Amino acid sequence: MPLRVHRIAAILALLCVATFFSSTVLIELLGSPAAVAQLKSLIVAPGLWVLVPAIALAGGSGLFMARSRRGRLVDAKKKRMPFIAANGLLVLVPCAIVLDRWASAGAFDAPFYALQAVELVAGALNLWLMGLNVRDGLRMAGRLRGGRGLDPRTLPPSKP
Ligand code: HEM
Repeated sequence: MPLRVHRIAAILALLCVATFFSSTVLIELLGSPAAVAQLKSLIVAPGLWVLVPAIALAGGSGLFMARSRRGRLVDAKKKRMPFIAANGLLVLVPCAIVLDRWASAGAFDAPFYALQAVELVAGALNLWLMGLNVRDGLRMAGRLRGGRGLDPRTLPPSKP
C-alpha cells in the first residue's frame, strides 16, 4: 500500500511540475495575455491543490518506506526531499499566487517577467531533483539498470 501511494503521488507531482512548466513556456511564446492570465489562474486552482498534497504524500510515503531501508540510493533520495519541498512551498507556490494576481490585473511588466523567470528556474530545478528521485526509486525497486539488478552484493560470485 505505501508503495502504491508513493508511486501515484510521485508521478502526479512530477507530471504537475512538468505540465506547469511546459504550458507556461508555450503560452508565453504563443498565447495572448488573456490566455496567460487563464493559465496562471488554472495553475493556482486546481493546479496547486493537486501539486502540494502530491509532494507531501510522495515525501511522507517515501520516508515511511525508507524506515527499513539502508543504502546510498535511499540516502540520496532523503537528502533531495527537503530541497524539493522547500523549493515547492517557498518558491513555486508563492510565485504561482503572485503571478496569477498580477496577470489577472493585466500587469505584464518587468516585475512579472522577472518573477516568471524565477518560477521557471525553480520549476526546472524541481523537475531535475524529482527526476533523480524517480530514477533512484526505480533502481531501488530493481526496475532500472544500476539498481538491485547490478548490485554486486546480489550477484552470484564471479568465477576466477
Ligand atoms: C518527489 C519525490 C520522490 C519521487 C518523485 C519518488 C519516486 C519514486 C519512484 C518512481 C519509485 C519507484 C516505484 C515503483 O516501484 O514503481 C520510488 C520508490 C521508492 N522511493 Fe521514492 N520518490 C520520491 C521521494 C522519496 C523519498 C523522500 C524517499 C525516502 C527516502 C523515497 C523512498 C523510496 C523507496 C523506499 C522506494 C521503494 C523502492 C523499492 O520498491 O524497493 N522516495 N520512488
